Amino acid sequence: MTFKLKTLTASMLLAAPLALASFSSMAMDKITLKLAHNLDNSHVVAKALDAMAKEISTASDGKMKLRIYPGGQMGGPRETIELLQNGALDFTKASASEMEPFAPAFSIFSLPYLFKNAKQFDNVIHGPVGEELMQQTKEKGFVSIAAYEAGTRSFYAKKEIKTPADMKGLKIRVVATPTTLKLIELLGASPTPIPFGEVYTALQQGVIDGAENNEPSYVQTRHVEVAKFYSEDQHTAVPDYLVVSTKAWDKLSDEQRQIIMTAAKHSEEYEAKLWNEQVEQSRKDAIAAGAKFVQVDKEAFREALKPLYADFQNDPERSVWLKKIEAVSDQ
Ligand code: GCU
Repeated sequence: MTFKLKTLTASMLLAAPLALASFSSMAMDKITLKLAHNLDNSHVVAKALDAMAKEISTASDGKMKLRIYPGGQMGGPRETIELLQNGALDFTKASASEMEPFAPAFSIFSLPYLFKNAKQFDNVIHGPVGEELMQQTKEKGFVSIAAYEAGTRSFYAKKEIKTPADMKGLKIRVVATPTTLKLIELLGASPTPIPFGEVYTALQQGVIDGAENNEPSYVQTRHVEVAKFYSEDQHTAVPDYLVVSTKAWDKLSDEQRQIIMTAAKHSEEYEAKLWNEQVEQSRKDAIAAGAKFVQVDKEAFREALKPLYADFQNDPERSVWLKKIEAVSDQ
């Protein structure tokens, strides 16, 4: 029985809330779990994680605590995932790109202009394809239990970028994955892998000419101060994931897991509700800080990036995921 329950997947646990809710939290052991991420506290994903921590505490009558270490104090996702793997940390947040080195399936989100619309993206990350994706890193010692919207990523730089030709020779910071490196190269620029927390200084000192991200991250990192032109090419939509170490997960009781899963689900809903507002607010804040939003020739970007599709189609491991996503409804 114990063994069987331990092998239940997150989605199966979610499907059986009634049976599990009948356990009593009176008998629950006290436990403090640790979560580290690299976002500023004002970021909507950080707020969603804070809300989750509160809910976990309330739902367990204070017996379960989730202590959060924000702002990259335990390092970026590369470091925190490693801490998860060796049992020194229980949870972290990582973008799909940061998961690509552990499971090629996640590379799908770095494929430019993949989604027909925002609805299809939501249906993927919150539907059966997303559930399957979240389990892909299991053999590496961690899985994801929530997916968060992260809008679209666009280039920002110290000069206007309107077409791929404007990117020629520019050094652009990327989250280093084979797909993002090639993406930048196809646009004639030089990909420069730099941890998120070091991008501001790199821009300021001219080590790089630009980077790419969604509007909230552009503003909250203050990159807006040192790269004034945000070019709306919207090349990718890369979600963030709440990641848990399987070591930590396996040690929890079913009741504890149920409390976490419910709070994680609520944190997804909370974040999704706030995301669009956050984008609007960030755009206003960016303009107030002197940024200029630049309209681009999207078709030219789409055309220049087409060879990435051939790469995916010719690779059996990745083409499977391309097909799965293309089959998801956009309604
Ligand atoms: C986004 C994303 C982060 C990621 C960051 C990056 O802001 O939400 O999870 O770390 O991009 O570019 O590194």
